Amino acid sequence: MLLRQFAAPQPFAATGHAPARGEIGEPAVPDLGHGPHAPFALPPLPYSLRALSPIISARTLQYHYRRHHAGYLSNLNRQLTGHPMAGEPLITVIRETRGGTEPGSLFNNAAQVWNHSFYWRCLIPGGGKPPAGRLASAIERDFGGFTALADRLITAATSHFASGWVWLCAENGYLSLQRTANADTPIRQPGRVPLLTIDVWEHAYYLDYQNRRSDYAVRLVDRLLNWPFAAQIFQTHLEQVQRDQAALTLPSASAPAPVTPPAPASEPSEPAPAREPAAAPRTAPGLVLTAPADTRSATFSRLARLR
Ligand SMILES: [Fe+2]
Repeated sequence: MLLRQFAAPQPFAATGHAPARGEIGEPAVPDLGHGPHAPFALPPLPYSLRALSPIISARTLQYHYRRHHAGYLSNLNRQLTGHPMAGEPLITVIRETRGGTEPGSLFNNAAQVWNHSFYWRCLIPGGGKPPAGRLASAIERDFGGFTALADRLITAATSHFASGWVWLCAENGYLSLQRTANADTPIRQPGRVPLLTIDVWEHAYYLDYQNRRSDYAVRLVDRLLNWPFAAQIFQTHLEQVQRDQAALTLPSASAPAPVTPPAPASEPSEPAPAREPAAAPRTAPGLVLTAPADTRSATFSRLARLR
């Protein structure tokens, strides 16, 4: 398999976040500032503890970042002390230890460190505004528009059972929603790049909303999601897809190979449809969400009430 070191594209270079090493056909995952190997560092919050208030209070953010996130990092560094994987990047630790499901496992702590560092960057004061450019076009193609996607994110976050995460992901230029249980993360799945996430563990909202997770989800999607951040990652992803296509195209070929939609995870392989003006996202049992249509009106009623 061809290995290569990607140059740091502008979107991440501007913020000091270069993509991790990738392979042909495998996406570069943003390096969020944990350092090259253990002991990993806790990346600083990209805003003050009060910056997301009143949607997320300073008290919630303090506990979430300084206790939970820092706790995962402390556990991870302790577990990696003297461990054979101590010299590996965080992404490698996550991918090589997946399947560890026991509480406190190396995978759980490694994945939760990355998930939370990513989550902080997915939020921004004054967020929630629709993106422009290629991400906007992809949202229109794959979800039928920004409002429909926002509604599905809220529904996914509200309906997910127990602890976990909701993700907007890109794969081969196409978008999909995914939810993962507990610490699980889409970056362990080859070819899938997360663009945004919502933490639906109770520690993310309980101090502010108690059991009203839907209120947390509505406010977060409406006021905090960092769509420019997602657009940067998506642009980098598209550039990588184009580079991969060029690398795999025979010299005699004059036209690039068509991009095919991603095959649903954990489903038997089947012929991928040709590029199409997809109105609905692709589904994968247990991974990619299909939001019930009748949840839309309820969600917007809630949005109107919260504004
Ligand atoms: Fe969390």
